[in-house]
Amino acid sequence: MSKDAGLTSSIAKEGMMSLGRIYNDDCFECIRDIANECEHPVIVTDPPFNIGYHYHDYSDHMDEGEYYRSLAEIFNEYPSVVVHYPESLHRLTLEMGIAPDRVVSWVYPSNTRRQHRDIAFYGIQPDFTLVRRPYKNPNDKRVRELQKRTGGGRSYDWVEYNQVKNVSKEKTSHPCQMPLALMMDVIGWLSGYKDITVIDPFAGSGTTAVACERRGIPWRAIEVDRSYCEIIHDRIEGEVE
Ligand SMILES: C[S@@+](CC[C@H](N)C(=O)[O-])C[C@H]1O[C@@H](n2cnc3c(N)ncnc32)[C@H](O)[C@@H]1O
Repeated sequence: MSKDAGLTSSIAKEGMMSLGRIYNDDCFECIRDIANECEHPVIVTDPPFNIGYHYHDYSDHMDEGEYYRSLAEIFNEYPSVVVHYPESLHRLTLEMGIAPDRVVSWVYPSNTRRQHRDIAFYGIQPDFTLVRRPYKNPNDKRVRELQKRTGGGRSYDWVEYNQVKNVSKEKTSHPCQMPLALMMDVIGWLSGYKDITVIDPFAGSGTTAVACERRGIPWRAIEVDRSYCEIIHDRIEGEVE
């Protein structure tokens, strides 16, 4: 199934334990085998956007109909959380034939104004009470007590984080990395589900996997490009050392 299981086993060497596995493979070929081994598989991903990005091993220029059909086919099989452009999510939703249970907007500053991408939850619900934000006015005594008692205010259905830029501390050599803080929220909102395994079929630099590792949720990362698998491996190694 996996072209290179060695990538995974080496994370566990010398007593380092990771919660996941990396598969250097085409997700359309292997996702069902991988999901069959998990009790409650849940897909969390941002797929290639089909806008001509320069990936090493993958042409980001599919026929549009084929692109949506192939994504819908795998997302329809499992509870799925998908990050995409708003209009692309609408198109995907039409193709899937089911409405998302919830949509969260990720707002980010751009050179001109703010922009947003959306995160659609199909067949699974985010629990916003599980990720807490610091209250405003932390110097106010009552706010301080409230913060201490509750751990902060619940999150809501929009979040604001910068995109990962070349100058960002977390930047790897992957061309379109998601912000870790964003994926920490997404995985945090799912953390009330017991026994789930998160599968990211388009894992890129492994941001979903890192968020799962930090939140204590088992994960599987599938990435067709071997050099990106190595980035995932290195990031996870940094988490478990
Ligand atoms: C938008 S990027 C994911 C970025 C990732 N969320 C991150 O934070 O780094 C999509 C990734 O999907 C990979 N990909 C494209 N087609 C694939 C396939 N059929 N199977 C596995 N990976 C694939 C590309 O190589 C690319 O790294």
